[in-house]
Amino acid sequence: MARAALPQAVLCFMHPVKTARAIAEAYHEHGVRTFSLDTVEELEKIISATADAEGNPAADLRLCVRLRVSSEYAELSLASKFGVDLADAAPLLQATRQVADWLGVCFHVGSQAMTPFAFVQAIERVRAAIADASVVIDMIDVGGGFPSIYPGMEPPPLEDYFHIIHRHFEALPIAYNAELWCEPGRALCAEYSSLIVRVEKRRGDELYINDGAYGALFDAAHVDWRFPVNALEDDLIEPVEEFSFYGPTCDDADFMKGPFLLPADIQAGDYIEIGMLGAYGAAMKTAFNGFGNAQAVIVQDEPMASLYRGDRADPRQSDNVVSLR
Ligand SMILES: Cc1ncc(COP(=O)(O)O)c(C=O)c1O
Repeated sequence: MARAALPQAVLCFMHPVKTARAIAEAYHEHGVRTFSLDTVEELEKIISATADAEGNPAADLRLCVRLRVSSEYAELSLASKFGVDLADAAPLLQATRQVADWLGVCFHVGSQAMTPFAFVQAIERVRAAIADASVVIDMIDVGGGFPSIYPGMEPPPLEDYFHIIHRHFEALPIAYNAELWCEPGRALCAEYSSLIVRVEKRRGDELYINDGAYGALFDAAHVDWRFPVNALEDDLIEPVEEFSFYGPTCDDADFMKGPFLLPADIQAGDYIEIGMLGAYGAAMKTAFNGFGNAQAVIVQDEPMASLYRGDRADPRQSDNVVSLR
């Protein structure tokens, strides 16, 4: 899909746990050269899956060792699942250097990192790993974690993240022509996609709505994410009150704690826009009990909130300004 959409793109396979078949297909059929890994086992798998028909190892592998870093400044942890511990990183970096034409170090500070310091701390761990291993590093990939803006979560401007990352990258003991990469997920797509739901019933400060935990509101239910909401009726009056939501299935788990701020007189029959659903919105929608049978309508609208405001004091310093209002 990526190749079809962007024929010139450099494709990277950055999941540290891959099947041999997927690696072989990526390398031999789709021209992927860049892979990430966090164990010797994965390194060996990559070497054998990318060898040619005679068993000669590939000479053009671009490999990234994923280092485990803290998720303490992020709203969603990515610290447990992947990454080699600093204590074990040196032998893995050295073994990878032996077979890689180009060697990178990558990490992920956790999703929705609320302060640029998350990246400073991670880059310092990278520095320790490189010093331990004494290998030449051609690329540092600071991963994802770049935040978006939601009710109750207002991070500093993205420019502050970029600035601090550049400064600490420049000070690393790496090749003079080393590249700095990142893998933004949320920051690219958080502002995309709204859901219009109908209030089916009100019980005090709880609203029963027609989508939920098994639909496009997975994150609202399962990680208590607070999406921005907006009542679509003109005649609703202030002040706003805090509400939680129940989805359409029969179990208590179909619950979204919020709080979601809506007009105090909201009631059954009213419609609500729930915004900023991002990648885990429509993609998570199940067909459970037929509830997934919704109609998608493509409209053009500003996001309900944006970290791309273009209100930095000196926009010339900014890399991320998309519109100056
Ligand atoms: C390897 C990798 N890179 C990038 C991302 C994107 O992260 P984020 O959405 O926090 O920017 C993820 C998210 O799971 C990931 O696993």
